[in-house]
Amino acid sequence: MQRMFRSLLQCLLVIASTALGPYAVAQSSLEAELQKELDTPFVVSPEEVVDRMMRAAGVGPGDVLIDLGSGDGRIVIEAVRRGAIRALGVDNDPQLVERARRNAIQAGVADRASFRVENLFETDLSKASVISFYLLPDVNRELMPRFQKLKPGTRLVSHDYGIGDWPADETIELLTPEKTVGRDGKSRVLLFIIPADTRGDWRTELPQHGGEWRFRIDQRFQQLTVASTVGGKPIYVRAARLRGEEIKVVATGIVDGRAWNHLFQGKVSGDGIRGDLTISNGGETRKIPWTATRQQ
Ligand SMILES: C[S@@+](CC[C@H](N)C(=O)[O-])C[C@H]1O[C@@H](n2cnc3c(N)ncnc32)[C@H](O)[C@@H]1O
Repeated sequence: MQRMFRSLLQCLLVIASTALGPYAVAQSSLEAELQKELDTPFVVSPEEVVDRMMRAAGVGPGDVLIDLGSGDGRIVIEAVRRGAIRALGVDNDPQLVERARRNAIQAGVADRASFRVENLFETDLSKASVISFYLLPDVNRELMPRFQKLKPGTRLVSHDYGIGDWPADETIELLTPEKTVGRDGKSRVLLFIIPADTRGDWRTELPQHGGEWRFRIDQRFQQLTVASTVGGKPIYVRAARLRGEEIKVVATGIVDGRAWNHLFQGKVSGDGIRGDLTISNGGETRKIPWTATRQQ
């Protein structure tokens, strides 16, 4: 329903801007309507949800967190308490930003917790290692293209709602009877880890085990479909997993005349993967270095 309303407003905006030409006032009031529709009302995340969000995202020393729509500042403050180098909250409500600043001073974390009056759609996200939000589903969907451009490994943690059709890496459900809005006294915490781009054909040379290995990878979000050959012959890929930059591929089959299980594990960086391969056949287990290169 919300999307229908939004599409209708968008159509009106296009028609109005074409028909009205110089009457920019009409256009800006329609734009304001669109923006209002993407505003999430202020509702706090219960403390237990904040704790789960921190734990799911593994917030700790070294992290830089941004909370989109920071409300009274509780997520930003908790991130600093847990060792984040710095945390920033943005909110379009100046009174809430003032309140969050006062709360940070009271909590003794004002040196590393800052707050800005800002439209979250304009926030620079590039420096964050963790981005948290408790926003409406349409807002999350709207943010998706920006999230997808972030550095692989960046963690996104959301209270209650997903991001379009992007499957979460982890979903935790907890009882929150104190919550006055939402999902029947329940809350969800969803974690998304920006996946590396692994699409394409990859090649590995393993003279000590099968010779040339090839991997053809198709990717949708963090989900992989992998087809592999060794010495030009197909080998069965049992599982493939991508978590940020960390990739795992499990392949089982006959190599050099014997049946082996292969666990490839590595870190994707640009057109290279570096890690190790564990091979086992019931009796014998060996670990050997593994590198793969994306073919142009
Ligand atoms: C559901 S509250 C979440 C507050 C806090 N993050 C928490 O979890 O306790 C959503 C917040 O987003 C803010 N907000 C809504 N639309 C926004 C926008 N376009 N830009 C910045 N802040 C926005 C609201 O003022 C509100 O404080």
